[in-house]
Amino acid sequence: MTEPIILSTARLVLRPWQPGDIEAPFTWAQDERFWRFLPLPVPYTRDDALEFVESRVTADWSVAPAFAVTVGGAVAGDVNARVEREHRRAEIGYGLNPAHWGQGYALEAVEAVLGWLFETMGLEKVIARADAANRGSWRLMERAGMEREALHRSHRVLRGERRDEVVYGLLRRDWLRAKADAGIGRPAGRANTNERTSQRPAENRR
Ligand SMILES: CC(C)(COP(=O)(O)OP(=O)(O)OC[C@H]1O[C@@H](n2cnc3c(N)ncnc32)[C@H](O)[C@@H]1OP(=O)(O)O)[C@@H](O)C(=O)NCCC(=O)NCCS
Repeated sequence: MTEPIILSTARLVLRPWQPGDIEAPFTWAQDERFWRFLPLPVPYTRDDALEFVESRVTADWSVAPAFAVTVGGAVAGDVNARVEREHRRAEIGYGLNPAHWGQGYALEAVEAVLGWLFETMGLEKVIARADAANRGSWRLMERAGMEREALHRSHRVLRGERRDEVVYGLLRRDWLRAKADAGIGRPAGRANTNERTSQRPAENRR
C-alpha cells in the first residue's frame, strides 16, 4: 500500500488532490491550448471537472498516484502515474494550466515525480506518451532526460482524426547516472531549480 505523499520542490508543492479542487481543472480545460491533444470532452463541464477530481481523490496510490501541482498554494496542474508493479514500470501523464506555461514548472514537477517513482517506489522504468504533434509535451520529456523509443503511426483517434503517437522512456539507471552527474540531487534537465526535492506524508490521508 502506497500512502499519499507531498513533494516540495524549489517553487512548487505537489500534493494529493482534494475534493474541493474543482475550479482549477474546470478553468484550464476550457483553454483549447490545453485540450488540443487530449481526449477531453469539449465543451468541458463542471461535472467533467468533478469527475476528474473525484477519480484523482479516490485513486489507489499503489497503482495510480496523482499529484495536484500547486504554485503559491493554488492548483496549477496535474502529474499522475499508472504503475504496473509486475514490471516495476509506470506511465506518467501531466498537464499544466496554460497561464503557467513556459516557466519550467512542468519540468520541475515531472522531475520531482520521476525521482519519487524511481527512488521511493523503486521502479525501474518510466514511460510517457504524447500526440506526435504535441511538441510541448515531448520537449518536456526530453528535458527530463527521457528518450524517444517509438513513433506509433496512425495509432489512435482524436476527435475523429487518426493521430501519430510518440513514446518516451527513462530507465532508473540513466536517471541515477544523470543525477550523479548533476551532483546536486537532480537529473540533467534544464530547470534552474536545483534544490533537492523533499518528501513528506500527506496530512489529509483518506
Ligand atoms: C506539456 C506541458 C505541461 C508543458 O508545459 P511547459 O510550460 O511548456 O513546460 P515547462 O514548464 O517545462 O516549460 C518549458 C519551457 O519554459 C522555458 N523555461 C523558462 N524558465 C524555465 C526554467 N526555469 N526551467 C526550464 N524551462 C524554463 C523553457 O525554455 C521551455 O521552453 P522551450 O520548450 O521553448 O524550450 C504543457 O504544454 C501542457 O500542459 N499541455 C497540455 C496538456 C498536455 O498536452 N499534456 C501532455 C499530455 S501527453
